[in-house]
Amino acid sequence: MWSGLRRISLGPAVRREFLGLMDRRDLLKASLAGAAAMGISTAHATEAEGAAPQTGSIGGAPNVSSNLAQPLVSLSDYEAAAKRKLSIPAWEYFNGGSGDEITLRRNRTALDALQLKPRVLVDVTHIDTRRTLLGQHFEHPILLAPTSSHLLAHPDAEVATARGAAAAKTILIASTNSNRSIEDICHAATGPVWFQLYVDDDRKATQALIERAEAAGCKALCITADNPLAYARNREARVQAQAPIMTFANTGIQSGPGGRGVPHRHFNWNDLAWIQSIAKTPVILKGILNPDDADQAAKRGVAAIVVSNHGGRVLDTEPATIEVLPAVVDRVAGRVPVLFDGGVRRGTDVLKGLAYGASVVLIGRPYIYGLAVAGPDGIRDVVGILRTELEGAMAMTGRVRLDDIDRSVFWKKTDYSS
Ligand code: FNR
Repeated sequence: MWSGLRRISLGPAVRREFLGLMDRRDLLKASLAGAAAMGISTAHATEAEGAAPQTGSIGGAPNVSSNLAQPLVSLSDYEAAAKRKLSIPAWEYFNGGSGDEITLRRNRTALDALQLKPRVLVDVTHIDTRRTLLGQHFEHPILLAPTSSHLLAHPDAEVATARGAAAAKTILIASTNSNRSIEDICHAATGPVWFQLYVDDDRKATQALIERAEAAGCKALCITADNPLAYARNREARVQAQAPIMTFANTGIQSGPGGRGVPHRHFNWNDLAWIQSIAKTPVILKGILNPDDADQAAKRGVAAIVVSNHGGRVLDTEPATIEVLPAVVDRVAGRVPVLFDGGVRRGTDVLKGLAYGASVVLIGRPYIYGLAVAGPDGIRDVVGILRTELEGAMAMTGRVRLDDIDRSVFWKKTDYSS
């Protein structure tokens, strides 16, 4: 059962916020009050203090499970704990997909269906998960996808996420629809941040935002292309109909251009070329499934593409991302790096994405669950669990470096003869 199974009643201050009657500082206070009203604890940080490193810890930091009655040893443990901790509206917002959630489910079932081929008697004493992408060095290939509205999960919102990303030795791709400004996010981060851009129909607004992100120190611009118009998100719509929740659109303190992050109906290939002409940082295109689009993006000289169906939140009944990934990688044929997300919950999923040719893998919901359960420590833990599992999967498929991971990790035939 959800612990947050009570009606959400927003106080008068929060309700006034939705009428646009408050200044930014009041907005923040009201947002925190709203977070409290929705059952978001402000005591996250203390939960992780304590004992020795365990599975999933990064850099010897204690694991969040150390102090919990019920240990959190997998991403699904984090998901269950987040469900207990978050209010119903916040849970529905983060966890939901579009339409009948067919693509959302398929992202998982398609990953599960892929069978790995073990290899024995390989010396796996030294497993190396390092990767270089766009001239940037990563200790492991697990990045944090752009996701919106972290205030629903933690009072410090994306500032806490940026701290978690640093603790997890990874980068945050900060969403246009963050609750905190890109300046605050970059200030809190001790590692690189990339900026996810929803292109505004107003070019001046878009340019101003790109310049702001670059001035704040963002090292790449990740443009999301797969969400030109909102498609049925029924779970989210139902909770919004009962009471507006504190998403980016309702707090007014997002990084982006005045809450108009989506939809972006006008955005087309010419706009992309214009952005490439003004951006000083590498331009990545996110939300590619169709190999023809991937080909077009590579021809137009983007720095990288992200194979993504937005975590099953856009066009329902699309295939799973892992199903289309090999076709996209084949079409791109090494012209640009291909990143991958959608349903990654296990180290074996990371391995499968890399095996099909992804340079790195992004996670969305799992790190939000980590954030909700234990703040930055939760993010560190979630990424650490995945990384440890990836190392195990590499060892048991006989791969000691990321470059060793290729399609031969899969069984070729269902009769298992090769
Ligand atoms: C997203 N995603 C997303 N993508 C994007 O480009 N900009 C955004 O603002 C958001 N916001 C967002 C909010 C929430 C709550 C979710 C769950 C997702 C999509 C995200 O970047 C990523 O593609 C998926 O989350 C990956 O799937 P998993 O890991 O959540 O299964």
